[in-house]
Amino acid sequence: MKALEGVKILDFTHVQSGPTCTQLLAWFGADVIKVERPGVGDATRKQLVDVEGADSLYFTMLNHNKRSITLNTKNETGKEVLERLVKECDVLVENFAPGALDRMGFGWERIQELNPRMIMASVKGFGPGPYEDCKVYENVAQCAGGAASTTGFLGNLPMVTGAQIGDSGTGLHLALGIVTALFQREKSGKGQRVLAAMQDGVLNLCRVKLRDQQRLKAGPLKEYSQYGEDIPFGDATPRAGNDSGGGQPGRILKCKGWQSDPDAYTYFITQAAVWPKICDVIGKPEWKDDPDYATPPARLPRLNEVFDAIEEWTKTKTKFEVMDICNPLDIPVGPILSMQELAQEASLRETGTIVEVDHPERGPYLSVGCPIKLSESPADVKRSPLLGEHTEEILTEVLGYAGEELDRVRSSGAIGEVKQEAAE
Ligand code: COA
Repeated sequence: MKALEGVKILDFTHVQSGPTCTQLLAWFGADVIKVERPGVGDATRKQLVDVEGADSLYFTMLNHNKRSITLNTKNETGKEVLERLVKECDVLVENFAPGALDRMGFGWERIQELNPRMIMASVKGFGPGPYEDCKVYENVAQCAGGAASTTGFLGNLPMVTGAQIGDSGTGLHLALGIVTALFQREKSGKGQRVLAAMQDGVLNLCRVKLRDQQRLKAGPLKEYSQYGEDIPFGDATPRAGNDSGGGQPGRILKCKGWQSDPDAYTYFITQAAVWPKICDVIGKPEWKDDPDYATPPARLPRLNEVFDAIEEWTKTKTKFEVMDICNPLDIPVGPILSMQELAQEASLRETGTIVEVDHPERGPYLSVGCPIKLSESPADVKRSPLLGEHTEEILTEVLGYAGEELDRVRSSGAIGEVKQEAAE
């Protein structure tokens, strides 16, 4: 028994933000029915193709454990099938451009008429306001949500991050909204709308930067490197390079082999509680009692000197040796791990965070499994569906189409080309 067993999701999502949400729900046990345009499907199926003729990794890695039905929702019979799906399912998830569902004839009013228990969950780029009609992709959200203006180095361009906080981050927010709405429905019996705007999701993840914006009124942000470098602060939270976001100063430092290995670095945090141990490890025991270095406030204007000294030591060790030496001493450090290293990390394979999945068109590939572990509802990762792989199954088993009615749907063009063996 899985946590969300029995919950049916009408999955109208595409690209990344929506699919990450419905993939999580599928891993928690929901029956996710992905509706795709006949002959085309989710645009990512054929984007960044690495194996000719096969669904791309972009698609396969975002659509595990789902079923796929092809349906032209602009065709009259297609609309009829969609109506039956709306009546049958518990949640409709979509991340179309603003207005697309209304144009299709399935706005919130209509959905409520068809199924008052339905939860209709949407990802949009922006919430209500001046930009509500805009189409949005990942990096636009990172820019409009405050991440880009606070990422990168002082005096350099705003920077986007590799973590897909706009798409996958908003998908996570939406998934939480959906299960919360399902929980409320248990008591109220009513559905509701759930909206996760990408700008809002990114801003939520940049909460500490809005904190710093307000702290600026009280003076310079002393834990930022620029404070120790005597560079004045402006009106807005600046880019902080690799400075630690919290009150415990940290930096990325070179490790042994940095000259040839682009990832031979460690993150090193000078947590106040372990300062004496740090002094001993790096060979500066005299800093333990020196009033210029002994306390966190005394160190703040000298962070460059402090981290230069620590780096002299980290350069003599590999990033893993730094970890091995510092961890037993409770000094918080972290190696910069490349995707190649993560892909080979045995412990991540053991926990199912990295999984190998087999696919009929492309063979085995690696994916990120469910990052949230439920002890009573473990996630088994199953390959993504081929386009329309479950069309017949969903029409007959979920919606109860049979006989002449099924033939009518098949010949209407609503589900696209019917495979010979399926039609027989
Ligand atoms: N049958 C018939 N038509 C279908 C269909 C189906 N099964 N599925 C989709 N369509 C139609 C839609 O109705 C829409 O038609 P319309 O514009 O005539 O009303 C059309 O396909 C395209 O949908 P749209 O969402 O506009 O796709 P797009 O490729 O132009 O835009 C995005 C892509 C991501 C920019 C846009 O969907 C968006 O801004 N989404 C919200 C924010 C978001 O999630 N962004 C992150 C994506 S990772």
